[in-house]
Formats: sequence, structure tokens, C-alpha cells
Amino acid sequence: KKAKVIYDKEFVIGQVDKRIYGSFLEHMGRAIYTGIYEPDHPQADEMGFRKDVLELVRQLNVPIVRYPGGNFVSGYNWEDGIGPKEKRPRRLELAWRAIETNEVGVNEFVEWAKRANTSVMMTVNLGTRGIDAARNLVEYCNFPGGTYYSDLRRQHGYQQPHNIKVWCLGNEMDGDWQIGHKTAYEYGRLARETAKVMKWVDPSIELVAAGSSGPKMPTFPEWEAIVLDHTYDVVDYVSLHVYYGNPEKDTKNFVAKSLEMEEFIKTVISTIDYVKAKKRSKKVVNISFDEWNVWYHAHTEGKDQKAEPWALVRPIAEEDYVFEDAILVGCMLIALLKHCDRVKMACMAQLVNVIAPITTVKGGIAYRQVIYYPFMHAANFGHGVALLPKINSPKYDSKDFTDVPYIETVATYNEEKDEITVFAVNRDLEEEMKVEFKLDGFEGFEVVEHIVYESDDIYKGNTQDKPDNVVPHKGGNSKIEGNVLTSILPKFSWNVIRLK
Ligand code: AHR
Repeated sequence: KKAKVIYDKEFVIGQVDKRIYGSFLEHMGRAIYTGIYEPDHPQADEMGFRKDVLELVRQLNVPIVRYPGGNFVSGYNWEDGIGPKEKRPRRLELAWRAIETNEVGVNEFVEWAKRANTSVMMTVNLGTRGIDAARNLVEYCNFPGGTYYSDLRRQHGYQQPHNIKVWCLGNEMDGDWQIGHKTAYEYGRLARETAKVMKWVDPSIELVAAGSSGPKMPTFPEWEAIVLDHTYDVVDYVSLHVYYGNPEKDTKNFVAKSLEMEEFIKTVISTIDYVKAKKRSKKVVNISFDEWNVWYHAHTEGKDQKAEPWALVRPIAEEDYVFEDAILVGCMLIALLKHCDRVKMACMAQLVNVIAPITTVKGGIAYRQVIYYPFMHAANFGHGVALLPKINSPKYDSKDFTDVPYIETVATYNEEKDEITVFAVNRDLEEEMKVEFKLDGFEGFEVVEHIVYESDDIYKGNTQDKPDNVVPHKGGNSKIEGNVLTSILPKFSWNVIRLK
């Protein structure tokens, strides 16, 4: 098969905000305990953080990590996680049915983030708590000193404020599973009043209103319209969440789900702009796609059901990803980049053990799941501006989609380094695709490398015993003549073609 794609130096979608490559760590399953934090592990540093995990996170190049939840945050008292560890309470954790020891709290997480070369996106509890707890947490984290909570932080050993810039106003408040679930009206009012005083404490912070938990929620997109009606002038972003699975083993349909993700983004943009127009506002609210990934294996395979409730460390949502998941993750990354004019932040959910690109063995190794690689490529090479792809590709129909292009692609141009990176997926399970990329306005570029990620078996993954079972390789077939790049994209593959 053959396809043609045109890129033009002048046809810019927008500047890629590096925070589009964010991630998420929740007090859930083994994400924190025996994930990033395992004081008895041979690789633990003086604070108990696993150095092998930190190294894998640093290689991913994640600029921001959302914390501490997720559903967890809606029952969380942040004060439980500060001060001397021996005095911290053990609590029943109702979101994931575990016991929370509070050994890791705000200060420890800020320390971990420094070591991981990342920053913190903090979520506040708008389930069981509200304005008071949220404004106190901003004071504790960001106020220099001389007040009750800022001085408490200093007593706890942190003289300088943490200066946490991005804050989420609760999590998935539209879902009945949420502790303190609310109607859009109830949430909108609470979010507005909370946002207002959080910004009074620190006017430099950015705030994310909780949007729908997914495009299939019955209240979507009315939720966004009502919530933004209350909060438009006090928030900077609205959040989107989505997870996809393939329990029916329909791969063609599964890898097309990024098209639904794009529709979701477009509908939220329209809803934001409708409220903007209604309010006669000049302000632009953007998108934080702060939970996205593939999620279904552990539940479908019955692993989650075996995890005993009320354990100290309860292993849930530990996905053993397979190659086809990496292809959809690649398509989802491309979907985000194609809307980078409005999607300014996004978090792959999550980072370690729980629906994650990194898996740890308690007392043993840490290894990369197959979904690690497309994310790592995008986060390392996908910077500068994103270029609009004009794609002419053969198409197919699947159960839920018509006219699915076999080729999915976006390119970034890093002006500072004068580098182009073309990201491209071939969704075709049977055939390679010869793609002619016309790069209008770009002269004198050479192919630096063509990285290919493919597998002889779409159900293969990386495991504790075979951590490098499926890894990308260099040496893909790409050549450039003038400004025409011709690449062979192997069947069912993720490709990164770098030009300089
Ligand atoms: O990321 C796992 C969970 O998925 C989060 O806690 C919640 O926000 C979502 O439903």
C-alpha cells in the first residue's frame, strides 16, 4: 500500500507545551509503596526512593507528575502525610480499599519529583473536603513563611516554599464511584469558591477544573458547560480522562480508538469556546488531558479480583501490556500533538505499576513495559511546534469507526535545534506502507535516524523474566531527496523519523 502526507513549515498547529508529556502517580495499588518508594530495597536512596525507578523515569523525560490522586484524593487528608512519620495515622483508604500508612506525603513527593527531574501537579480533595483544606495546602506548599501553615512546613525541614504551579480542583467529580460525587452545579459552585481563595493565597498558580471522566459519561458535555459557566474566569484548564481496552480482541477497532479521543478533545474545545462566547470573555481556557492510557488487562484477566482488600500494599491495575497497546498509545500521543494548540498538559496514567509504563518487582528489578517506548520517543523528540499533517492514506472500516486511515502521523519542528521529527503509525496488520512525506519549506535536511517499533506477535510484552522482549530498533527504511522523504513503515508499527 502507498500513502502521501504533506507537511509545510508554515502550517503550524501550535507550540508543543512540554507538559503534554506529563504523567500521574496516585496512592493506589503499588504505585507509591513498593513502586517509587521501597526503603528496604537494595536500590533505595536515603529517603527510601528506588534509584532504579528514578532512572527509568528520568529517561522517560516526564516534565510534570499529577499527585496524589485520582479517586484517592477525594477521601484524603493532606495533613496526615506531613510531620514526623511515626506520628502519621493509618487510615482506611476507601477509593481502592487499602490501608494508607501515610509514609509518603506532600514533602516526600516533592523530594521525589526533584530527584526524577520533574515537577508536581497537585490535586486537592473536593470530595470530603473543600475550600479550607485546599487553601491551607496552598499556604503550606507555596507561602514563604510567617503564617501558621508556611511555618509548619519550615518546621518540617523545608525553608523554601515548594512553589507548586499547577493545581487540580478535585478529581472525576461527575462519577458515582467518586467519594463525594456531585452534580455539575454543586461541583461548579464549590470549584469556583475554592479556586478563588487558592488564587488569593498564591495568584501565580494555574488551576484545572475537573471535566468529564470520559466521553461516554451521560452528563458529557453538559457537565463541562455548567462547570465552566461557574468557573470560567477563575480556572485555566479543564481536564479530560479516557482509558481504552480491547477485551473483545478486535485489534483493528482498538487501534482506531484514538479517533474517538480526538472527537472528545474537539467537543471539549467547542464547549469551552461556547462558554467563552456566552461570557463575552477574551480569556482562553485550555485542556489538561490528565488521565489517558490503555486499561483493561488486569481486570479482564481476573488479577484485580484476587487482590485482598484492606492490605497495606494491594496490587491492583497492574497491566501486563502487549504490543498492540503500544500502537494505540502511539496513536493517542499523535492525537494529543495534533491538538497541541489547546491541549497544553496531559498525563499518561499512570507512571509506576498501576496502569503504567514502568513495573517494579518488590525487592527485585524495575523494567519497561511496551508502552514505555512510544512515550519516551515523543517526550524526548516531540518538541518545538507541531505541524499539520495533510494525509492521503488508504482507509478501513471497523466495528465502531468508518474511514480509519491506516496511517496516523504528526511532525514536530524544533526551530532551536533545526530538527524535524516525524511520528508515524501504520495501523495495517498485514502490509507495510510506503509513505511519501512532502516537507514543504524545509530544505537541506538529512535523515538522522528512523526508529522502528514492531513485533512478530502483537500479543507479546515485556516481563520480569524477559524485560527486553519487545524493544524498538534503529535502521528503518527512510531516504530523503530534496524535500521528499520516502519511508517504508513496516506492518503494524510505530516509527520515529528524525531529520536534521
Ligand atoms: O488512574 C486510575 C483511576 O482512574 C483514577 O484514580 C481515577 O481518576 C480514574 O477513574
